[in-house]
Amino acid sequence: MRLIAANWKMNKTVSETREYIEKFLRLIGEPEDREVLICPPFTSLYVAGEMLKGSSVKLGAQNCHFERKGAFTGEVSLPMLREVGCSYVIVGHSERRHIFGETDDLINRKLVACLEEGIRPILCVGEKLEDREAGMTFKVVETQIRIALSGIEHLTDRIDIAYEPVWAIGTGVPASPEDAVEVHRFIREILRDINPKAEGGTRILYGGSVNPENAPEFMKHQEIEGLLVGGASLDPESFAKIVNSF
Ligand code: 13P
Repeated sequence: MRLIAANWKMNKTVSETREYIEKFLRLIGEPEDREVLICPPFTSLYVAGEMLKGSSVKLGAQNCHFERKGAFTGEVSLPMLREVGCSYVIVGHSERRHIFGETDDLINRKLVACLEEGIRPILCVGEKLEDREAGMTFKVVETQIRIALSGIEHLTDRIDIAYEPVWAIGTGVPASPEDAVEVHRFIREILRDINPKAEGGTRILYGGSVNPENAPEFMKHQEIEGLLVGGASLDPESFAKIVNSF
């Protein structure tokens, strides 16, 4: 089933979350042929989890720590996320990589921890503009994926991957669906190489300036198995339109 995910980033207080989810659930109904996921900030997870109980909309976090508990001031563990109802966590988002200095090795440790905890990670990968201009897109994406999946190669079917070119995030300039498809096919080849037995299982999503108008252009390609939406997911009507746009 294709996955349409909202990454709210650092937006919405608890009361704003309540208002959003109430509206969104009314707009969305019970979609049966697509999976819908909302990833609010940590402070809103509990209330969102309570409100989403009994609906088919899933809850995810935007980050996690790899240890289960301990002296890690300011961090949030996977058991904590599980208890508030998270079944997904976004790992290695480009903002975590570029603003907070997350490395491929750290991202690998987080993925290992997610699999141990049984929470499905969405691994984010993508090249910067300078990489694309230097013809390095495939090399960058391949390195990110191979390091992130090292030691868990046999479990790739428990992970989804979001291809998010950094230059397309929050810029209003999405990748063309054709460019995205090219990278998605390349990612699929790497996955086949890493885990020939997996037979799919991993969905490859596109993220970067997706909106209700361009979403169907992406979703008409079978290689694009979902969307990770930032800015356009902050308004419940706009996100519901994206979910129902194909
Ligand atoms: P925008 O949709 O705002 O470009 O953000 C994409 C993103 O980073 C989703 O994780």
